[in-house]
Amino acid sequence: MKVLVTGGLGFIGSETVVALLEAGHEPIVVDNLCNSKIGVIDRIETITGVRIPFIQADCRDKEAMDKIFSSYQIDGVIHFAGLKAVGESVKLPLKYYENNLLSTLVLIQAMEEHGCHNLVFSSSATVYGDPGELPLKETTPLGTTTNPYGETKKMIERILTDYAHVHPEFNIALLRYFNPIGAHPSGLLGEDPRGIPNNLLPYVAQVAIGRRDHLNVFGDDYPTPDGTCIRDYIHVLDLAEGHVATLNKLNENPGLVIYNLGTGKGTSVFEVIKAFEKASGVKVPYVVAPRRSGDVTANYANVDKAEKELHWKAKRSVEDACRDAYNFQKANPEGIA
Ligand code: NAD
Ligand code: UD1
Repeated sequence: MKVLVTGGLGFIGSETVVALLEAGHEPIVVDNLCNSKIGVIDRIETITGVRIPFIQADCRDKEAMDKIFSSYQIDGVIHFAGLKAVGESVKLPLKYYENNLLSTLVLIQAMEEHGCHNLVFSSSATVYGDPGELPLKETTPLGTTTNPYGETKKMIERILTDYAHVHPEFNIALLRYFNPIGAHPSGLLGEDPRGIPNNLLPYVAQVAIGRRDHLNVFGDDYPTPDGTCIRDYIHVLDLAEGHVATLNKLNENPGLVIYNLGTGKGTSVFEVIKAFEKASGVKVPYVVAPRRSGDVTANYANVDKAEKELHWKAKRSVEDACRDAYNFQKANPEGIA
């Protein structure tokens, strides 16, 4: 398939582009580079031997999107483009609503006008809010989000669901990612956050190479076995392969479908630190700090639906992901140029 990958130079997008090429698809990338580097294209070429077509444009720019659909016979779209920094979204809500909602609306309009009817959307487990029961199933009622970023995901899910009701010719997959971590084993692609990382793994990796002093563990008084929060950490390569499997599913014309992409296994913050130390052989100094507002005690996925319907399963361990994240951080101490 010719697949338009929006936000395809970002953390998950770039790994997915590699997975698409390895599966014999033809990715075309559009990205405005607001949170990624142009050098990622060279790195994808080094890994796969393929120079991907790239258009630097904003998904909110209808003219630019029309031009892409007119220039390439696009069979399907994977829509990663969006802003994702939770803390920033609280400070700048309009920036998040504007970018995430508008880019999706413009994309859908362009797809409709150009007769492209297959869409995969990057949603998040954040739409479940503070879960009443675990593990989370796709049928678990959505919860209250704690920040504008999370709300954009919930709103876009609703918009796409309403749209699919009246557009039976469209196939749309809402993929609820749990916590993507890790990097490409080559050390060439990985998570490259600007400024101080918000997420656990990039922070741990920067502590491990000495770029930061210590990790703050946000709370050890949660009602969990070791007192720290539990999440479902999924290797980004597994996640990328989940997108290839989802495209295959869309070819069966299923209409609107929803899948949790996780491992089904919960891991605590202390367990992540131990796994990282084991995988890297490096000590990760930490101090226990107060809880971070908006954090839920635990969430992890029930992945039965994805396994059954997508014939896909996460294969890699948290330790594999820690090793790959460490290698990437060591090879790129200041990120990708
Ligand atoms: P990322 O920031 O690394 O990648 C997003 C890419 O989209 C960046 O390259 C950025 O430059 C681009 N972009 C942003 N707005 C754009 C626009 N208007 N037009 C064109 N390009 C634009 O983020 P990621 O971690 O790869 O996440 C990809 C998607 O998955 C996002 O939608 C994110 O919200 C979602 N998601 C991520 C996580 C996570 O933990 N990383 C979890 C759940 C969901
Ligand atoms: C966060 C977002 C979520 C978003 C996801 C991916 C919040 C409340 N949730 O998920 O909406 O989809 O990132 O971008 O921000 N931790 C530490 N020290 C750190 C960093 C994290 O102890 O320096 C802990 C956190 O308290 C949490 C766990 O590590 O228990 C994972 O945190 P993080 O990587 O930020 O992911 P989430 O909070 O699950």
